[in-house]
Amino acid sequence: MLIRSADVTDAEAAASVPRRSIRELCALDHGGDEKALGQWLGNKTPGHVRSWIEAPDGRIVVAEQGGVILGVGGASRGGVITLNYVAPEARFKGVSKAILASLEACLRDLGCAQSRLTSTRTAHAFYLAAGYEDAGQPEFWGKLSGQPMKKSLQGPDALAKVVSGACRLLGRMP
Ligand SMILES: CC(C)(COP(=O)(O)OP(=O)(O)OC[C@H]1O[C@@H](n2cnc3c(N)ncnc32)[C@H](O)[C@@H]1OP(=O)(O)O)[C@@H](O)C(=O)NCCC(=O)NCCS
Repeated sequence: MLIRSADVTDAEAAASVPRRSIRELCALDHGGDEKALGQWLGNKTPGHVRSWIEAPDGRIVVAEQGGVILGVGGASRGGVITLNYVAPEARFKGVSKAILASLEACLRDLGCAQSRLTSTRTAHAFYLAAGYEDAGQPEFWGKLSGQPMKKSLQGPDALAKVVSGACRLLGRMP
């Protein structure tokens, strides 16, 4: 599986991932309520995804295997993970973990000390396992809610990467 930057030709295929992911995997959040689904899916069209890919202040990545897009993620320069969706058929195969790791690395490169996101109920345990903690009260949009979460990007892992990068630059490691 490859995590790569999305380009505008991915917009159509990439948009279908969050649409199916939300509808098929996030029943805990929308409860099958078509009004809530309509509200959630309203900005997940190919046109919206294309505009996110083109936006200069963010990064959209796709997880691809054999030419098929299995996941879509996004982050803003301000340190927010804006998007992380896996295709239903690729669930629990490491796609969201790989996307999250790639986006966190991107935020570190941008100098962000912290990663923030708003989790679905569906993904809350996933983000806790990935080192995130709750950051305040849930937010509500009609029947939908999201849990703000945060994670420091300056822990021992981040430090180890900086040290190992510096050592490589100094020629002390292969
Ligand atoms: C929950 C979800 C985010 C996990 O992503 P994924 O790509 O399917 O899973 P990955 O293989 O990358 O991650 C595996 C991790 O998920 C968690 N996980 C595994 N099985 C799980 C289960 N049955 N239920 C909940 N979480 C589980 C564990 O933390 C696991 O980590 P581990 O392998 O170290 O034990 C995804 O399946 C999902 O439901 N997405 C719906 C869209 C969504 O809510 N996106 C977030 C928007 S904020």
